[in-house]
Amino acid sequence: MDQQALKRRAHDVLRLNSHGSWTTPAPGYYPHQWLWDSCFIALGLARVDPALAAHELVGLTRGQWSNGMMPHMIYSRGWPQRLEARLWARSQLAPLRHRTSDITQPPVLAIAVERVAASLPGRERGPFLALMLPVVVRFHEWLYRERDPEGTGLVALIHSWESGMDDSPPWGYALRELPRVDPQWKFIHNMTNRDERATDVDAQRMMGLVQVINRAEADNDVLYRTSPVLVRDVSFNSILAAAGESLARVADEVGYDLPEKLVENHARTRRALETLWDEESKQYYSFDVRMNRLIDIPTVATFMPLYAGSASPERAEELRRLLVDPTAFGSIHPIPSVPLGDPAFQRRRYWSGPSWINMNWFVIRGLERYDFYEEAEWLRLRTLGVVDTNGFREYYDPISGEGLGAHDFAWTAALVLDLLG
Ligand code: GLC
Repeated sequence: MDQQALKRRAHDVLRLNSHGSWTTPAPGYYPHQWLWDSCFIALGLARVDPALAAHELVGLTRGQWSNGMMPHMIYSRGWPQRLEARLWARSQLAPLRHRTSDITQPPVLAIAVERVAASLPGRERGPFLALMLPVVVRFHEWLYRERDPEGTGLVALIHSWESGMDDSPPWGYALRELPRVDPQWKFIHNMTNRDERATDVDAQRMMGLVQVINRAEADNDVLYRTSPVLVRDVSFNSILAAAGESLARVADEVGYDLPEKLVENHARTRRALETLWDEESKQYYSFDVRMNRLIDIPTVATFMPLYAGSASPERAEELRRLLVDPTAFGSIHPIPSVPLGDPAFQRRRYWSGPSWINMNWFVIRGLERYDFYEEAEWLRLRTLGVVDTNGFREYYDPISGEGLGAHDFAWTAALVLDLLG
């Protein structure tokens, strides 16, 4: 592998997707700004262009609602007639000047802020953090206030899109009772192969859930009490725990006082993650609040508490074994989003089997956290290898390595830059 060439190609993909101060996930297919995509993009840009990385995150602040929510999408101007932008009921809380979605996405922001701040020259760091810290604090406060009103430590999601893993099988389970909605869902499939996207049934249910959210006028209090779908997602909460650590470190560095309650909540999240462990199968699962049980369908999300650092050494060792097991997650091109032997596994379909570079990135960092350096290096090299051979795609067939989904996918390029660095 020619690492210098790979680095150049990755940087080119980010240039191709750049809109100046922010970056789209993929040309054509994803023309807007997405929350966690931009955080991954900033992590990569921090390696090659710290000032632009800072702009990427500042660009996200355009979308913040007056209650603190960071929306999962900020729509591009010039696409107002596109179905996506008209999907959501307009909330009074949304910013006036930008059209956004009414739901959030994993809170990678604090993690990206820490990384980008560290890459900036000293005199730019202060102003950047002065701008970003209050944004992150309000976002996290919103998460706890409106998505964990019971103070469990685990925030609950109201749509699978909030998890970032749209059609992951546990989410398919959580959505199973929703009515299928006919109109308005076809855009989800409009450009790539149907067998690489959510099934029609899943897509229709996701749209049905948008209607539930619209009917509640995106009122989180109403949704928390009445929505048929409410899930304490293991991946989202692991990211939140790690984001809490990032936030504490940067706040400490610049002498910014974090609200005490928020600090307590982050600690509670870290502890509560361990309630998502299932001793019988020795894996972590998301919790279905409506059913009051763990959704025991295995996915790559089981490894996320490694990233959070919440898992005990014993649990981490169980996960390490599962990761390299060739009948489970140890495929030739890891990490399959669903383990190979599972009935839900589909090698080409979106979050139901393919390997995703962002999940690999989290797991590599998680393995390093537990001193599993050999496994981390194995996964890092396999990850760089699959991209080098098959291009900067959205996801990959975990058996053949074939690139799937969108082309020139920005977070794949960005995280390659980080993994090369
Ligand atoms: C898909 C992914 C989601 C991502 C978005 C934009 O919807 O499931 O995680 O943020 O595309 O890339």
